[in-house]
Amino acid sequence: RDRYQVVGNPIAQSKSPLIHRLFADQTHQQLDYGRACPAEGHFAEEARRFFAAGGLGMNVTAPFKLDAFKFAHALTPRAEFAGAVNTLKLSENGDILGDNTDGFGLVYDLSKRLGWRLAGARILVLGAGGAVRGVLQPLLAAQPAQLVVANRTLARAQALVPIFNPVGPLSVCEFSALSLQEFDIIINGTSAGLQGELPPLPRGQLGSNCLCYDMIYSAKPTAFQVWARAEGAAHAEDGLGMLVAQAAESFRWWRGVVPDIEPVLTHMREHLR
Ligand code: ATR
Repeated sequence: RDRYQVVGNPIAQSKSPLIHRLFADQTHQQLDYGRACPAEGHFAEEARRFFAAGGLGMNVTAPFKLDAFKFAHALTPRAEFAGAVNTLKLSENGDILGDNTDGFGLVYDLSKRLGWRLAGARILVLGAGGAVRGVLQPLLAAQPAQLVVANRTLARAQALVPIFNPVGPLSVCEFSALSLQEFDIIINGTSAGLQGELPPLPRGQLGSNCLCYDMIYSAKPTAFQVWARAEGAAHAEDGLGMLVAQAAESFRWWRGVVPDIEPVLTHMREHLR
């Protein structure tokens, strides 16, 4: 059977094997999807071993997305912009190609599943780390009226400007300078929520029709969702839909078949612990 796997450290918590099994069942594709957990610094070894043993494609998660970026022989434009790779595949000539489907997943979830119009929207992104860099190109390509990146360390946000200017205008600011009422969509891409923390956001400014979207997900509302609801936001979403949509795009890239996201997302939500 055709073989795929996800690589990360830790990896036990990864939902990718389940998501891809559900996609494979749904589309009647015969494949096996496993998981691997090399020690840090040993990604390339594991990737070489996997592809030499006949593997066809890999998903890559923390902390190896940069290693996968370096490992790939060729990159899709969106992976180049992301500076990180979350999907590898063996090409027909034996080269390993690198892609990044995270931004696709975010844009799909916002625009297709939630029905939000990104073109002309005023979008604020919180954070300027790897997760944010991974999604900026597809967000800018959707032609928002404005895209602002706010970060605790301003210099880190500023460093993104020259990278993404060829795609569209990006501006940056500090949290203390934010006016939240100026935005239609606020996306939390900081890792603060992993510790149940929040970036230092001003209070009492949120427009009631603002969409607040957290790129992380959990069984209970995330700290950012709790904040958004307390601030009166009508819409506060977590990133589970982004996770399933990025997986669907990897699956399409490998198999040439587009899986149906909605039933898999419903299943994942029901079984989230
Ligand atoms: P990731 O791969 O999750 O993006 P990262 O590259 O380490 O991880 O980036 C983490 C992001 O979350 C950064 O934007 C970081 O802000 P700094 O650049 O100022 O460090 C942000 N972040 C993490 N914890 C935070 C907190 N408690 N408050 C605000 N921002 C936080």
